[in-house]
Amino acid sequence: MAALTSDPILDNGLGVIDPDVYFQMNKPPANLPEFEAKLKDFVKLHEAKGSRLVFITSGGTTVPLENQTVRFIDNFSNGNRGAVSAEYFIEAGYAVVFMHRQFSLQPYQRHYTQDPNKGFLDYLVPQPDGSIKVDPQYAPSMIKVLEKYQKAIRSNQLLLLDFVTLPDYLFKLQAGTRILAQLQERAMYYLAAAVSDFFIPSQKMNEHKIQSREGALTLTLDQVPKFLKPLVSVWAAKGLIVSFKLETDDKLLVPKARNALTRYGHQVVIGNMLTTRKQTVTFITKNSEKVISLSKDQQAKDVEIESEIIPELVQIHDSWIKSGATQV
Ligand code: PMT
Repeated sequence: MAALTSDPILDNGLGVIDPDVYFQMNKPPANLPEFEAKLKDFVKLHEAKGSRLVFITSGGTTVPLENQTVRFIDNFSNGNRGAVSAEYFIEAGYAVVFMHRQFSLQPYQRHYTQDPNKGFLDYLVPQPDGSIKVDPQYAPSMIKVLEKYQKAIRSNQLLLLDFVTLPDYLFKLQAGTRILAQLQERAMYYLAAAVSDFFIPSQKMNEHKIQSREGALTLTLDQVPKFLKPLVSVWAAKGLIVSFKLETDDKLLVPKARNALTRYGHQVVIGNMLTTRKQTVTFITKNSEKVISLSKDQQAKDVEIESEIIPELVQIHDSWIKSGATQV
């Protein structure tokens, strides 16, 4: 850990530390060099090809309570938004960096990993000759998913990278966005991860497992610095940045989404409510507000709202590349 070189507390009255100071005070994940090497190779390949690239963050971060972590705080996100979106971006010709919470939903695989009543082995039937086949009732839909998956892999359109903890996520977000910055306007950042707003700095954490014999546990959590600020103004300054805003009180959704846009100065905030996030989202840009909702008929046909979100973003990205604005 590097020594502190500046005042750790920003003058905002809330005691929130500056993002730079956060990186000085916390240890990077051990696999950061490997993460960077894989990403650099992927970006190099797609820079040469002239592809557009999207960096998707997906799933929730954990907040460890002990340095040798037995317990942690988690959140609800299972990575559905990110995993579904990755498939539609690939369909639109994008190369996708899928930075996801380890073991959360993954593009293509998700079709077979989220049924609470069915696991991997339930899709298979043993054959008399000792081989295994996919159960014929699942084969027609599985072959379609498999073909798309294999095409994405063959054409090197998908890079899977993972994180678990909040520091893991933040170090990789910084490193990843800085690497992608060389693609300038051709890179899009699609920040769908549910990132904890509170954490315990490692110097304040118990080293070992918190013991129950010490009685009831009282936790004090510090506020996580606002990383969108340096991301927008420094790390990924030329890319198209799309953040999400999640609320449970619908009166707050649009004002808070717009507030985020004004505060960080990026291009798009997509507002979604916890309970309706799969049916309705609101796009907020500097000069516009647009609700995208699935009709009853679309819902009955299991249409995924990401099939409407991604084409909308591709159009915005077209404008961004052409004119540096979200609308031409
Ligand atoms: O995964 P699912 O179960 O499908 O759920 C999808 C979702 C509801 C999690 C997703 O659609 C969503 O809304 N993600 C953002 C939720 C969130 O954490 O919002 P926020 O207000 O805390 O953060 C705002 C934005 O900044 C987010 O894009 C977040 O990824 C990003 N952020 C937040 C904090 C931080 N320290 N760094 C960040 O980059």
